[in-house]
Amino acid sequence: MDKLIIQGGAQLNGEIRISGAKNAALPILCAGLLAETPLRLSNVPHLRDVNTTLLLLAHLGMQVSVDESMNVALDASNIHNPVAPYEMVKTMRASILVLGPLLARFGKARVSLPGGCAIGSRPVNLHIKGLQAMGAEIHIEHGYIEAKANRLKGARIFMDMVTVTGTENLMMAATLAEGTTVLENAAREPEVVDLAECLIKMGARIEGAGTDVITIHGVEHLHGCDYAVVSDRIETGTYLVAVAMAGGKVRLKNARADLLEAVIDKLREAGAKVEYDDNSITIESDGKLKAVSLRTAPHPAFPTDMQAQFMALNTVADGVAQVTETIFENRFMHVQELRRLGADIEVDGHTALVKGRPGLDGAIVMATDLRASAGLVLAGLVARGETVVERIYHIDRGYERIEEKLAAVGARIKRVG
Ligand code: EPU
Repeated sequence: MDKLIIQGGAQLNGEIRISGAKNAALPILCAGLLAETPLRLSNVPHLRDVNTTLLLLAHLGMQVSVDESMNVALDASNIHNPVAPYEMVKTMRASILVLGPLLARFGKARVSLPGGCAIGSRPVNLHIKGLQAMGAEIHIEHGYIEAKANRLKGARIFMDMVTVTGTENLMMAATLAEGTTVLENAAREPEVVDLAECLIKMGARIEGAGTDVITIHGVEHLHGCDYAVVSDRIETGTYLVAVAMAGGKVRLKNARADLLEAVIDKLREAGAKVEYDDNSITIESDGKLKAVSLRTAPHPAFPTDMQAQFMALNTVADGVAQVTETIFENRFMHVQELRRLGADIEVDGHTALVKGRPGLDGAIVMATDLRASAGLVLAGLVARGETVVERIYHIDRGYERIEEKLAAVGARIKRVG
């Protein structure tokens, strides 16, 4: 099993190109199911979760072609098997994103219920309830969501929690429904907006994406188009924290500061200098940081997907930080591992109290989920001596060639098999 070996203490200087966003690419790939002519996507990141999605789509009967630059073409004219099997869904919960499109376009779907997850229980009840409100008949049988519908009907749907993939699933389903659907308390994440923009280019009629009320007027058909996936704000944020902690000056290209305001605010509060233009962000830091407290919440507040990285930052900052996780009930798995590097962290319910220390000491640690792993890599960049991060298949789900991108700006990091 691959691991990363990091010698801490190197400053980071140079440029990193940010990839397309995983969490935008996954729903947009699934949106390919809705189109009657081929959908052509660019800026698709080369990640394990993208490969899993492409395998799932191929399993459904999608014709998938991918060139060496990860331009993806999807042709849904021969979908013959609307089934997302357990073996695929269990490796990636985002597989649930085929449910809405399959049901809307083909009138039936059989999708395995996702099982447990390292960061929380993560139910999909709101996806199911919303589709039922649109007239779908859904029941759970042998661990599978069995769904059918003639044509879905527009409905007013209130979601009592903000759910990103739930909003995406229902928005995709509503594009081909009869009449108008209104999604209330919708997620405002940039990935929802990116999906909406792609759907609009495919012929959908959607208003309000990016606000908490999204209105979708159903149409009879959607067609393919050319679409470039938005850049990854979480990958961007992760490298920003890396430079803040390690010190140095790095320019992130293909990066969108407007999607990362809460994170940039916190980095400045910690003492890093951050400047940006439309398409790049430059960060400069001497590595001496102040502790920053934060509370995760749906966009535009501080993203849960950046919590572990800021936890790592706080372990070596000056002062005490309170880090509160409000989205997932079990997203502190990195705390035990950070403690192995010498971090001083106490957890009380949903809040972690992080007392900054002058330094960390390298050790062997284990990745437990995607963002937790990123936090461990960041800690390794500043820890004294050698840090080994094991089980990095988690990192490969969401970071494209993380060791190459970090090594290119001066980090001493390598992957070993
Ligand atoms: N929830 C319900 N019922 C539902 C759906 C969600 O109770 O039907 C709860 C969840 O249990 C959770 C909260 O609502 O407590 C928010 O979950 P959400 O549905 O928004 O999460 P998600 O859509 O499954 C996406 C990202 C995650 C990211 C979260 C929150 C994708 C593919 N995944 O997950 O990304 O953490 O939104 O922003 O978009 C990651 O990239 O590392 C990652 C985990």
